[in-house]
Amino acid sequence: MPQVSLNQRELADLEMIASGAMSPLEGFMTEAEYRGAVDSMRLPSGVVWSIPVVLSAKTKEQERLKPGVEVALLDEAGNALAVMEVSDRYGVSQEYEAQMVLRTTDEGHPGVQYLRSISSVYLGGNIHLIRHPEHRDFLRYRLAPKETRVLFAARGWNRVAAFQTRNPIHRAHEYLQKCALEITDGILIHPLVGETKADDIPADVRMRCYEELIERYYPRERVVLSVFPAAMRYAGPREAIFHAVVRKNYGCTHFIVGRDHAGVGDYYGTYDAQTIFGEFDPQDIDITPLFFDHAFYCTRCGNMASTKTCPHGKDDHVFLSGTKVRQMLSEGELPPAEFTRPEVAAVLAESATKGGGA
Ligand code: ADX
Repeated sequence: MPQVSLNQRELADLEMIASGAMSPLEGFMTEAEYRGAVDSMRLPSGVVWSIPVVLSAKTKEQERLKPGVEVALLDEAGNALAVMEVSDRYGVSQEYEAQMVLRTTDEGHPGVQYLRSISSVYLGGNIHLIRHPEHRDFLRYRLAPKETRVLFAARGWNRVAAFQTRNPIHRAHEYLQKCALEITDGILIHPLVGETKADDIPADVRMRCYEELIERYYPRERVVLSVFPAAMRYAGPREAIFHAVVRKNYGCTHFIVGRDHAGVGDYYGTYDAQTIFGEFDPQDIDITPLFFDHAFYCTRCGNMASTKTCPHGKDDHVFLSGTKVRQMLSEGELPPAEFTRPEVAAVLAESATKGGGA
């Protein structure tokens, strides 16, 4: 059987297709699914789907990978994880894909760099998993959609908010989560642990921050911490739609979208990832987005607030960019408690001194 080695993003996608997290996808996208997702954010069935989930053909094998052929999908160590029945092999314009999905073709965008690094010939077809991808980390946090659903039901939760994140938790994140918890029964904190860009804080550090914080500041019976295996696309608005609809599969009813969700650099407007929800009928999205304005600690209010709830000016607000926090940590300085809880700052500082990416 011909073989295709999957890169990290493709492996994560395979795992999510197999677990039902990507439902209704049952394989890597066919050409019709791909065109629908890219051109109109819908699968041919009409289901909302805003980003490509594709398998790139590795060049030397392209000729053998014809429709009708079965191929083995391998992980990076060469283990066969799945069999795919190739139904489509199609060439794409990656410029067009980048423009439509990422809204840019600029080389500085990590998603554009990824597209440049893979073949522009994609393979589509249903997959049959033969072996689960091997993991050595976060084992007790790797819950599949059917497991989170059972857990929520066992806890009697009807309204469950999901929180997507790729950064270490800071006070604004905590504020959003707890505001959401005020109007729901429970929260799924779902940090993304798939591939991220090199200067993002590594997932193990982020998970330690979560463990510290949940232990001390969260009501245990109202929180589920579990990891989201996907790779980050940095597609801003389109990725917010994707992040929302897949959380439905995990059994969530609400999804938090704050400022510049899934953004990178200055490629997207602060609230573009919220306004894009207006392009769909809420029934078609079928998970309720919870939009939050930019949140911060206000020294005059003496609490967390947002531009919607605080009348004071910028000088009274404590807000630090991720870059600024990284710089402070690398210089041995801790971010202020109004920005990051001391327990989290300690984890970040420890990892920074060990060269753990922070
Ligand atoms: S993301 O790429 O996963 O969106 P991040 O972990 O920074 O990155 O954000 C997680 C969620 O919190 C996103 O919905 C984001 O919009 C929101 N968010 C992050 N910081 C703030 C803030 N200061 N105010 C409001 N929302 C925020």
